[in-house]
Amino acid sequence: MEELLFHSAYEKFYAMARSSWAFGSYCREAFGEDFSQDGFSDVRQIARVLEYVRPDENLRLLDVGCGNGKMIAWLQARLGGEIHGFDYAEAAIATAGELHKGDFRVGAMGEIDYPEHSFDLITALDTLYFAPDMTAFVGQMKRWLKPGGVLFALYQEGDVQPRTENAGTTVLARALAWHGMTFQAEDITRECYDLLRHKRLCAQKFHAEFLAEGNAMWYDMLMGQTDCALEPYESFREKMARYVFVARKEEKR
Ligand SMILES: C[S@@+](CC[C@H](N)C(=O)[O-])C[C@H]1O[C@@H](n2cnc3c(N)ncnc32)[C@H](O)[C@@H]1O
Repeated sequence: MEELLFHSAYEKFYAMARSSWAFGSYCREAFGEDFSQDGFSDVRQIARVLEYVRPDENLRLLDVGCGNGKMIAWLQARLGGEIHGFDYAEAAIATAGELHKGDFRVGAMGEIDYPEHSFDLITALDTLYFAPDMTAFVGQMKRWLKPGGVLFALYQEGDVQPRTENAGTTVLARALAWHGMTFQAEDITRECYDLLRHKRLCAQKFHAEFLAEGNAMWYDMLMGQTDCALEPYESFREKMARYVFVARKEEKR
């Protein structure tokens, strides 16, 4: 794992998230729920999944890059079913195993595998842009989905992946098309910009608590992550874009 992008940073991040009161309080204030977000997802963004999947006790749900499992557990509380997740950060998976009843594994995109037709829903919330080979990984997720199953991804350009023209030109869209998966994409760049500005204010509110805990570096990270939203929206959107992707695996005829 060591050589994978940001791996050691995420190990430290999830160790901090486990014990920091300031970070948990900041997440609740910024996102409406403490999911130990490193990403850019608030409850409003994640709840969009509920438009595409009907609650059912027999559902099998997988979260790719699940962190400590809080997001998929939140979805389980609304949809029912059993939860699965994987993440390359051991610290995150250790916490997930303690917090939730589910199948949580340490694993990396492109390396971990599940049997064909395993899941009704796969979520990938701010994770897919780290995939070393997007086309191969989308092919794997398609295989893991049951016929009629849904892939729901929150996907960003401008930090890990370079900004392209629109949703259809992203690496993710091209990989979905290559695998014959039709998708819909919603541009939520404006929502992301407003959330980043809100995140910054919320982090500032807990500045003293971050310092008192000895977590100044994580406060600085939040400032660095939100610097980009200090510029006017028009210049922000030239560099960054955020999309909700929803793809459904075709039912067999
Ligand atoms: C930006 S965070 C998003 C976390 C969470 N889903 C959220 O929305 O806040 C990216 C997550 O993907 C995990 N991750 C990054 N690269 C990975 C890889 N190659 N394989 C598996 N997990 C990875 C990180 O440990 C982290 O939990």
